[in-house]
Amino acid sequence: MRYRRNPDLLLEWQDEAGPVLVDCRRWRRFTARPRLLALLNELGRPLTTEEIHARWGASAPNGEGSGGAELAATQRALDQLAAAGIIRSSAHTAPMPQGLTPYELAAHARAGHGPAANTQQGSPPPARLRHPDSTRTVRLTDSDELPSRPLREVLTERRSIRDFAPSPLPLGHLAVFLARSARVRGPLGPLRFQQTQRPSPSGGGRHSLETYVIARKVSGLAPGAYHYDPFDHTLNRLAPWDDELAAVLNTTVTMPAYMEHPPPASLLLASHAARTGWKYEGLALSLIYRDAGCLLQTLCLTATDLGLGACPTGTMRPANQVAFLKCHQDGLLHVGNLALGIPGPGRDMSTTVRPGPVGVQR
Ligand SMILES: Cc1cc2nc3c(=O)[nH]c(=O)nc-3n(C[C@H](O)[C@H](O)[C@H](O)COP(=O)(O)O)c2cc1C
Repeated sequence: MRYRRNPDLLLEWQDEAGPVLVDCRRWRRFTARPRLLALLNELGRPLTTEEIHARWGASAPNGEGSGGAELAATQRALDQLAAAGIIRSSAHTAPMPQGLTPYELAAHARAGHGPAANTQQGSPPPARLRHPDSTRTVRLTDSDELPSRPLREVLTERRSIRDFAPSPLPLGHLAVFLARSARVRGPLGPLRFQQTQRPSPSGGGRHSLETYVIARKVSGLAPGAYHYDPFDHTLNRLAPWDDELAAVLNTTVTMPAYMEHPPPASLLLASHAARTGWKYEGLALSLIYRDAGCLLQTLCLTATDLGLGACPTGTMRPANQVAFLKCHQDGLLHVGNLALGIPGPGRDMSTTVRPGPVGVQR
């Protein structure tokens, strides 16, 4: 018989009661004594009772006596730990997916357990994030006169585009792109829940993802960083173009996507995590990541439909290292990016961007 650590265990700090081990799948808690932690530290790989005994001997949990009696004591301790679910015998060890850390496995297991008890306390965080630090509001056009194609064509054509034409991204295209892919269509009841209906699905209608536009070369838009307000379809200017913003574009999109030149624009997606956490604490992060996948695909398909090139990247930075997020740095989680522009000649696109009659209302 071999034993290994229950991979769903995480260590949590409890200031007064001391550290506890949490079984994230069954949501059980155990006092985290140092001797137990030392044993679990070794049981990342399966060991036999004899191997465990040779390492711990009398210092194993509940260790007592000597010789055969000592080995029997170790076996009893292991039986108790296995019965509690802190360790698992190889007979009960399900094959684990490779390539995931214990934290990732535990977070996944915790998410499958459902929301924590006592969620939805007090008022939900608002569905709309305001940026009082904005210096200017750019009202985007409400009209959409750009063509659209059958979904099957769009699905066939969608590719990640890493080569962009030197020409700027027309603001009218950016406006239609945001309206079609991210604009709020209306509330989703009950009203007091602060839920909204938008083009992409979102766990519980929470829509925690905020969209920021890094505009390097967008015609009719001063270069800089903007927050997209999906309620009134405006871009709210947060920062001018400077070396710091160029570095954000570089580290979030240009470098991770191995682009030779920075794209004309990119989107930075950041989750206002409390919006999802208010309803789903315990599985909120997994919902936020899945929401990000849904939104990224919606953005990619919309870009393809409009003849724009787009490339998602998964690079994430702490919000306090992105200067234009400083107003909300404590509440935002950066979860993804999308390079955006007119595809370069390296890409044979069946539909090219034709600057349409779409203007900008200021
Ligand atoms: C969540 C996510 C993260 C991604 N991150 C990167 C990235 O950091 N760099 C990159 O070049 N491509 C990135 N991509 C794009 C993939 O490399 C691309 O989708 C894949 O190679 C398949 O090519 P296709 O999109 O043209 O079909 C990402 C895609 C997704 C969905």
